[in-house]
Amino acid sequence: VSEAKASVSRFAFKPIPTFTDATVHVPEGYSWKILARWGDALVDGAEEFDHETGGSAVGADKVFGENTDGMENFQYQGKQLLAINHEYANRRINLPQNEDGAPKSADDVLKLQHLQGVVVIEVEEGDSGWAIVKNSQFNRRITHNTPMTLAGPAAGHPLLQTAVDPSGTQSLGTFNNCGSGKTPWGTYLTCEENFNGYFGATSATPVERMDGVDAGYKRYGVTDTGYNYDYHKFDERFDIAKNPNEPHRAGWVVEIDPTDPNSTPVKRTALGRFKHENAEAVLAPDGRVVVYMGDDERGEFMYRFVSNGVYAPGQPTDGLLDDGTLYVAKFNDDQTGEWLALTPETTGMDAASIAIFSRIAGSAVGATTMDRPEWISANPNAVEAYCCLTNNKNRGVKPNAGGDDTSVNGPNPRETNKYGQIVRWRPHNEDHASDTFDWDLYVMAGNPTVHEGPKAGSENVNAGNMFNSPDGMGFDESGLVWIQTDGSDSNEGDFAGMGNNQMLVGDPVTGEIARFMTGPKGAEVTGLTWSADRRSMFVGIQHPGGNWPDGGKLPRSSVIVVKRDDNGVIG
Ligand code: FEO
Ligand code: CA
Ligand code: CA
Ligand code: CA
Repeated sequence: VSEAKASVSRFAFKPIPTFTDATVHVPEGYSWKILARWGDALVDGAEEFDHETGGSAVGADKVFGENTDGMENFQYQGKQLLAINHEYANRRINLPQNEDGAPKSADDVLKLQHLQGVVVIEVEEGDSGWAIVKNSQFNRRITHNTPMTLAGPAAGHPLLQTAVDPSGTQSLGTFNNCGSGKTPWGTYLTCEENFNGYFGATSATPVERMDGVDAGYKRYGVTDTGYNYDYHKFDERFDIAKNPNEPHRAGWVVEIDPTDPNSTPVKRTALGRFKHENAEAVLAPDGRVVVYMGDDERGEFMYRFVSNGVYAPGQPTDGLLDDGTLYVAKFNDDQTGEWLALTPETTGMDAASIAIFSRIAGSAVGATTMDRPEWISANPNAVEAYCCLTNNKNRGVKPNAGGDDTSVNGPNPRETNKYGQIVRWRPHNEDHASDTFDWDLYVMAGNPTVHEGPKAGSENVNAGNMFNSPDGMGFDESGLVWIQTDGSDSNEGDFAGMGNNQMLVGDPVTGEIARFMTGPKGAEVTGLTWSADRRSMFVGIQHPGGNWPDGGKLPRSSVIVVKRDDNGVIG
C-alpha cells in the first residue's frame, strides 16, 4: 500500500467535506452547471420533457437518454463531439404512469429500448456556458435496436446465429452500456455490462439449445425472468424460449465512429464476452494495441487483449481489434502477477468459444477471482494501470458462478469487502504487452472513524477523504487520477461520515487523495472527460434521487460541466 508522503500537494483546490443533501458540491473557486439531462432534445421537433409521462416511445430516441455513464470527447473538424453511454432504465421513473414500473405494452418496451444505448452530441461553449448543438449533423442516438455488425473470432459462429440473422454477423442494439474507452485512431468503445437482465422466457419448454448454451446461461446469469425489464413479453427477440442464441449477441465491446453518423457500430468479439465495465486502450512500445478490461461481477476476472498487428498513425486500423490474444490476470500473493493467454491449447476450447464464454475460459486457466473489477485507467506519465475493485460481499463467503475459489487473495485481502480498493500494476520492461507485472494496492478504502485494522483502510485514507466503492476512474493529462464512487450513501454504520457518492482525485506518486466533488443524494458519480482546452470537466450524475436537478416530478440523470471561476485548467 502506498505511503502518503509529506510533500507539496499537486491539487489546485481546497478539498471539500462530505454532503448528504440533494445537490452537487464542488470546491471554492469552482462552479458547476447542467450540460444535458435525460429528455433534452437533440433535434428541433423533438418533444419537450414531460414530467408526467417522461416522454413518448417514438420520441425517446430523439432526446438525451437515461442514466448517463462512460463518456469520451472527440475533436473533429474543429468541433467537440461527446459520445456518452446511457446504461440502463429506471422503470418506475421512465414509465411513471405504470404504478409498478413494469412495461404493459410493446410501446412501453420500445420506450425503454430507445432511452438506453449511446448518444453522440456536438457540444459548444457559448456566452452562457456549454450546450448541445441542436440539429448538429453529428447528433445521433444508438439504441437497443440499432443495426450493428459482429466481427472477430466469434462472428458467424452457430452460437451467434438466430432465425432473423442466420449469418451470425448482424445484430440489433447495444445493451447496458457502462464504461467507455477511446482507441488511438479516434473511435469510441462502449462496453456492454449487465446484458443478461434484458432476457427472459415466456415458456417453460424452450426450443432446443445448442451444446454449452445452458452452462453459459448459468455462468452469465441469463434466466427466465431477467431483471424484470419484461422485454421478452412484448419483443420476441428477447425471449430465450424462442431465441436461445440472442443473449450471445450481447456482452461485447462495441466500436463506434463518432465522426460518421451513418457508420455501423461493430461488436469486437476478440475482446471477449463478459460484463464489460470499460476498455482502456494503450499502445505497447512496438505499436501493438493493448486493451485492459474488467468483468464487474463478484469473483470474476480482469482481462487484457493484445493485438497481433501494430498501430501506425494514418495507416488502416481494420482488424486491429479482431486479431489478437485475450488474456486473464493472475495475481500472486508476492506482489507479482502474470497474464494468462486464453488459447485453444490453454483452455481446450475453440477460438469462438473462448470469445463467447470468456469467463469459462478464464476459469480453465486459473484466473484470480476479483472484488468486482470496474474501471481500468492507465497513467499517461508512467507505464502502469489501475483498476477499481468496488466491493464484494461474497469474498471469502461463496465461490463465483463458475465454482472458483473466492478466499481472500493478494489484491482482494478482506472478507465480505464492503469498501473496495484500487489495484495498480506495473508491466515488466515498461511494456503493457509484457506477460508479467508487479502489483500493489494504490488505496484500500475504509472507515477509520468506525474501524481499526484493515476496515479502517490504507494509510492514505483518513477522516477527511474517506469514501466507499470506487468505480469510475480516469487519468487527466497531467497524470492525476480521478476516482468516482458508486456505493452506500446511507452515511450510517460502516459508512458513517462518508456522505453522498463523490469524486476524488489522487496523486499516483505520493498516494495523496482529496475530495473534489459530491453528488446529489441517491446518485452515483460516473463518467468523466474534458473539453479540448481542459478548462471544463464533464462529469456524469447517474440515478439521482428526489427531483434533481430541476425540481419537477421526476429526477433526471445528467451530465454536468465543472469549471474554475478563473477559467483555469482542471487537473
Ligand atoms: Fe455499470 Fe460496474 O458499473
Ligand atoms: Ca460502474
Ligand atoms: Ca458500481
Ligand atoms: Ca451504475
